[in-house]
Amino acid sequence: MTAHTDPTRHHVHHRDPSGIAPEHVRRITPYLPGKPIAELAREFGLDERTIVKLASNENPRGPSPAVRAAIAAATEELCRYPDGNGFELKSALAARYAVGAERIVLGNGSNDILELVTQAFLQPGDHAVYSRHAFAVYPLATQARGGIGIEVAALDLGHDLPSMRRAITATTRIVFVANPNNPTGTWLPPAALEAFIASVPEDTLVVLDEAYNEYLAPERHAPSAAWVSRYPNLVVSRTFSKAYGLAALRIGYGIMHPKVADMLNRVRQPFNVNALAQAAALAALADTAYVEESRALNDAGMRELEAGLQALGVERVPSHANFLLVHVGDAGRVYQRLLQQGVIVRPVANYALPEHLRVTIGLPEENRRFLAALKVALAG
Ligand SMILES: Cc1ncc(COP(=O)(O)O)c(C=O)c1O
Repeated sequence: MTAHTDPTRHHVHHRDPSGIAPEHVRRITPYLPGKPIAELAREFGLDERTIVKLASNENPRGPSPAVRAAIAAATEELCRYPDGNGFELKSALAARYAVGAERIVLGNGSNDILELVTQAFLQPGDHAVYSRHAFAVYPLATQARGGIGIEVAALDLGHDLPSMRRAITATTRIVFVANPNNPTGTWLPPAALEAFIASVPEDTLVVLDEAYNEYLAPERHAPSAAWVSRYPNLVVSRTFSKAYGLAALRIGYGIMHPKVADMLNRVRQPFNVNALAQAAALAALADTAYVEESRALNDAGMRELEAGLQALGVERVPSHANFLLVHVGDAGRVYQRLLQQGVIVRPVANYALPEHLRVTIGLPEENRRFLAALKVALAG
């Protein structure tokens, strides 16, 4: 019977079955990824090796040598299914963050954790609250389940926690908080964040997305793993895609109440995280020096970019992550002029920021290429 209750489903064209998808799916605006290097090379007839991609907040160093070795060793067992329970990696994460392994869920990227939370907890018509200019997957995951996204106005481009708290009602099942946030690089201090979490009703999950956590100065780290024991409705998500340099392998994890983990495990694919990713993440977690070096390189690159932007008279939003939101005016035009010079950054008009571009901190040489190309792009 329910299939006949959606009035928008009646006029299905013979040759286009997309009309039989629910309206909330048809209304989704697809995610816009950063332009791949190979695509720009094809479109502009450029040599891939000369292209600089600062568009997806990846670690420009890639994974450490120890991680590359672990991946190579894991290729010996490619005929086997991965450990669907991720025993070794979950044990290592549990030891690192001093939580029980039953509190950890592995994801195909932390994106998977965000999807799994909505899949397990959001019913059509339920509300999910998030900030304007927050990570694009929150509205996407919400809409995919027929949920209603409640976008809260930002404060200085960052999350306005008091306003977000006021937006939470009896129909709110999830509130998403990105710290630091992408694409703005804004950061919430632990005290304000914990006060917010403590104020959220227990029947609303707080998803604290810490994808860029490893780029924060150590004194800025929130004790979020410990908070999970205190706040049963808190889900912390983390990733190996950023500072650990493993974006291509797709692996992230969530830390949460064991009963919440149980719900996510019911809806996830049995083998959602591949074997190479698990082996790589295990080695990456142990290689703490490499992450430290990556953070130091990011800090130095951030200072270099900020100085270069200042010299060009270009404003940026102070950032706590591995990217900078840069104010360039006609961002579409500047983006194209950067592409012509083989430099890929990220337009953020889809984040209601039509005058900004987001640039990832690269290797020193890449940062210089970007600054030189930006100078040319702004001059024309
Ligand atoms: C804030 C934030 N959360 C989550 C993700 C998802 O990353 P991944 O699925 O690679 O872990 C990203 C990626 O850009 C992000 O910026």
